[in-house]
Amino acid sequence: MKVRIECHDALTEDQRRQVQQLRQAVRSHDGVDPFNDAARLGMRGERPAVHWFAVEEELLGYAQTDPEHDSAVLCVHPQHRREGIGTRLVQSIRAQGDHLSWWAFGDQDGARGFGDRIGFNPQRQLLIMERPLTEPPRSSSPASGVEVRPATEAGDLDAVVRVNALAFADHPEQGSMTRSDLDGPRAQEWFNPADLLLAVQGDEVVGFHWTKLIQETDQTVGEVYVIAVLPAASGQGIGRVLLEAGLLHLHQRGAQRARLYVEAEASRTVAMYSAAGFEVVWTDTQYS
Ligand SMILES: CC(C)(COP(=O)(O)OP(=O)(O)OC[C@H]1O[C@@H](n2cnc3c(N)ncnc32)[C@H](O)[C@@H]1OP(=O)(O)O)[C@@H](O)C(=O)NCCC(=O)NCCS
Repeated sequence: MKVRIECHDALTEDQRRQVQQLRQAVRSHDGVDPFNDAARLGMRGERPAVHWFAVEEELLGYAQTDPEHDSAVLCVHPQHRREGIGTRLVQSIRAQGDHLSWWAFGDQDGARGFGDRIGFNPQRQLLIMERPLTEPPRSSSPASGVEVRPATEAGDLDAVVRVNALAFADHPEQGSMTRSDLDGPRAQEWFNPADLLLAVQGDEVVGFHWTKLIQETDQTVGEVYVIAVLPAASGQGIGRVLLEAGLLHLHQRGAQRARLYVEAEASRTVAMYSAAGFEVVWTDTQYS
């Protein structure tokens, strides 16, 4: 078989259609989308990306590298696996200098076996946790002096950016959230300050819970999108109160299920979610 590897800085309409077809074939076969949000945007040309094609007559394998975050995704057509295509793509990318992290979604045998063989080491695990929201969830009152309210006052969004930066100082992506992520043109379409709940102590915003409603074909899902408490205010139960208030808010807005994404190594946070009835339904792994 004469598979050739091509590298493209941008995709033509036709190439984008081929990538989309391959992605669809992988998704139907594996039951898992091989792309995350970043890769979807990269494919549409909405964020920087380099595209690697393994082509015979048609596209048999595809990898996308993200030069900003040094991360990559990779997939091979289900009918052309174990033919060395994944290996060729990784080798071509490595030949350009590889200090990338590779994402595998759903903890599948293929990715694990391939990762072992090619010398990838699991580095980070991202969990998806869910719980039902059909019944009103428990909600406890905040400690005295702490008020929970929506982010509808002037200055609230600046305070959220500040709390976020301090709470996620060690987090590679989340800590860099800016004002334009909250009220820039792209956020305007779906961001609603009423879904962003703040914990206020005295005059100071000490934590927030940003919730989101997602309409799926068969249900409305309420997402615990970001929850953060200032390190200086931690240990007072503010995270739990914010979580409960957000779940109640999502239930009242019609969500039937709650979902969240969390780093597996954030064990205290995972414990808080487990105690609130969440269970792990999915695991994504980042290899280096
Ligand atoms: C993971 C994936 C990219 C591998 O692509 P591929 O072209 O089939 O991989 P290769 O043929 O180059 O495999 C190289 C070696 O990896 C190992 N391997 C690959 N798939 C495996 C599997 N399902 N189970 C166990 N080992 C596997 C084997 O050692 C294989 O060598 P061998 O076939 O001589 O035994 C492909 O299965 C895929 O697209 N999966 C879905 C997307 C995904 O999980 N991407 C994340 C990659 S980190």
